Amino acid sequence: MIDAPASTDPFEPYTLAGLRLRNRIIKAATFEGMSPRGEVSAGLIAHHAAIAAGGAAMTTVAYCAVEPDGRTFRDQLFMRPELAPSLRALTDAVHRGGAAASLQLGHCGSFCNNHELRRRRPYGPSRALNLLGALSGRPLADPMSEAEIEAVTAAFVRSAALAREAGFDAVELHLGHGYLLSQFLSPDSNRRRDAFGGSLAARARFPLQAVQRVRDALPPGFPVLVKMNLRDGHRGGLEIEESAQIARWLAGRGADALVLSGGYVSRDAFFLFRGERPLRAMIEVERSYPQKLALALFGPWVIRAHPFEPMYFLPLAREVRAAVQIPLVLLGGITALEHLHTARQEGFELMAMARALIHDPGLIARYQAGAAATSGCVPCNRCVAEMDREGGVRCVRAPAPLRAGS
Ligand SMILES: Cc1cc2nc3c(=O)[nH]c(=O)nc-3n(C[C@H](O)[C@H](O)[C@H](O)COP(=O)(O)O)c2cc1C
Repeated sequence: MIDAPASTDPFEPYTLAGLRLRNRIIKAATFEGMSPRGEVSAGLIAHHAAIAAGGAAMTTVAYCAVEPDGRTFRDQLFMRPELAPSLRALTDAVHRGGAAASLQLGHCGSFCNNHELRRRRPYGPSRALNLLGALSGRPLADPMSEAEIEAVTAAFVRSAALAREAGFDAVELHLGHGYLLSQFLSPDSNRRRDAFGGSLAARARFPLQAVQRVRDALPPGFPVLVKMNLRDGHRGGLEIEESAQIARWLAGRGADALVLSGGYVSRDAFFLFRGERPLRAMIEVERSYPQKLALALFGPWVIRAHPFEPMYFLPLAREVRAAVQIPLVLLGGITALEHLHTARQEGFELMAMARALIHDPGLIARYQAGAAATSGCVPCNRCVAEMDREGGVRCVRAPAPLRAGS
């Protein structure tokens, strides 16, 4: 059992593995859709500058791939030395707003709709169907060889080092949501019979080695956060008992904090968000006609509904809280000031918010000033569709839409 914290103030500063944060609230990674052809746009910089100016302690730049073939979409950041100057402009802008900047690093594995894939097929733990790419000619994914696992591990290390050189204060490694490292962890998608599959320890081997190698390559004072699943959310996926064990191992391998999420986008996309399914908007923004048709015909069945509840991951997150001593970031349905206090009372050092800060990037400052206690986020989840529209993610109900130049 963790002792109840002495203070439950969400605005109390915190030092995470040597990095001073001005309060306890992190802007969670939300794919911005503001990196055409993998470049940093002015909109992406303005988006994160607005969040920094709005009071969050740290903003997370979303879903940067560690290699070009690690992109789910072509228009996604992928780490390379040439990106450093524009990323530096972004981190400078965030720092001017008084916040820290974190970069989420990941790899899509078999969940891939990247038209510029260099390989013949995407790859993952085992041979798999890639429904996302099925209509664009890449319906299958190959199993990775041990040499490829090693190469992607090295790509994580290289990307994290480049992130630091570009002025980021932290990195967040993506082990959740059904992307590559999550595909390895999940018993459902990892059917390997070698040292990287079978038992939980074997399935966790690649993700743990990636985390440890990144941690070992970076100096102290530069936190390595890990976003992981509490549950995958579908039958045959990762369940909480295994996740609690993974959390213990991650703590032992040097993870500085765990961001507790859940869901597996290729299986049950809305488990991780909860709330309304914006199917009509999703069909509208889809660029490929066959995909539009598939969404219209099968969307209501494939994209299952999950009712929204405030702090919906708290019951599962408590189990991880009981299992590890390292800093934990509570996430999922945190919208009101009261939720931030509750999270601290429950023993979570940090909280992450996504949709409420897309709706209003200035919310944290307004909470802190006593000018607001709730958020106007519904959640209609229209932002999930908007990220695929030109201009990128925004809240259709926002008081001041988060768009470049507006
Ligand atoms: C538009 C949108 C895009 C997202 N993109 C990402 C992403 O790139 N990486 C990630 O780990 N999570 C992503 N998420 C999930 C959020 O980080 C977060 O886990 C989820 O929205 C629950 O938090 P909330 O209830 O505060 O919105 C996204 C969520 C939204 C709404």
